[in-house]
Amino acid sequence: MRDTKNTMPNEALRETALPIPLTARGKVRDIYTLPDGNLLFIATDRISAFDHVLATGIPDKGRILTQLSLFWFDHLRDTIPNHLISADVADLPKELAAHKAELDGRMMIVKRAQMFPIECVARAYVSGSGWKDYQRTGAVCGVPLPSGLRESDKLPEPIFTPAAKNNIGHDENITFDQAAKTIGVEAATKLRDLTLTIFARASSHAASKGILLADTKFEFGLIDGRIALCDEVLTPDSSRYWPAASYQPGGPQPSFDKQFVRDYLESIHWNKQAPAPALPADVAAKTGEKYLEAYRLLTGKTRL
Ligand SMILES: Nc1ncnc2c1ncn2[C@@H]1O[C@H](COP(=O)(O)OP(=O)(O)OP(=O)(O)O)[C@@H](O)[C@H]1O
Ligand SMILES: [Mg+2]
Repeated sequence: MRDTKNTMPNEALRETALPIPLTARGKVRDIYTLPDGNLLFIATDRISAFDHVLATGIPDKGRILTQLSLFWFDHLRDTIPNHLISADVADLPKELAAHKAELDGRMMIVKRAQMFPIECVARAYVSGSGWKDYQRTGAVCGVPLPSGLRESDKLPEPIFTPAAKNNIGHDENITFDQAAKTIGVEAATKLRDLTLTIFARASSHAASKGILLADTKFEFGLIDGRIALCDEVLTPDSSRYWPAASYQPGGPQPSFDKQFVRDYLESIHWNKQAPAPALPADVAAKTGEKYLEAYRLLTGKTRL
């Protein structure tokens, strides 16, 4: 692994341009198809807030996200197979030889899966879109909840709250029955059970490090006919992590990683329309430190 000790912060990598076919560019990830048909997932240093990609990248954020996914794939490997083939730049094809340094630590070669078109969300606390749904209906994704919950309150037990993948705009919360209509009741039941099992394992690890896992989103796919855990896993971008020490229900909790960014964007009264602004250097630096702190706490490793 790269030695980042005693080096100046790297420049942020906001976009890649590799000489192989680009398959997708998400808000944070660039995904290419490798000559052998496998996929190359690259976590860039782009950061989004309020659904927009900001003009400033956070140096090494992509490396932290990839290393966290790798940590969790390994932590969960006895529970569920995953799509990872290799995270080693030595396994890149010769076409990418000139790009190894830029990709080191932030790339994963993965098996292409036949993805289930639902996002498998587990929630242990009522927050975000779950809090909005609860206020309107007293339920989240059709799961009835006790009355009188406050924002960020802990639920009696973690719940499965799937979402339909929506290419334009927000993913849409759906009920278990709607998920079952889309992918079949047998698959929906399996994905729900897997989601809750993995979530329980991850929550208990996070709790042992002083971090509450409020909710997270998994994506599953079929590889050679078997269900595999795909995409990124349990990163701050796909999960709500809260420091246990400052947990205080009755309002939104400060976001572990993006709070400085959100506070700054609120302070300049950005209208949350494109183009998204740039971040001052100190806000970007403090945000990078928060990502690193999450990584250190969760993995027990001191550096990337
Ligand atoms: N092993 C895999 N095989 C095929 N597709 C995969 C695999 N793992 C993840 N995917 C898909 O790759 C895509 C990753 O896209 P990405 O998350 O970067 O962008 P997005 O989901 O479109 O937008 P956002 O940036 O909001 O997350 C998702 O559609 C995901 O379902
Ligand atoms: Mg995504």
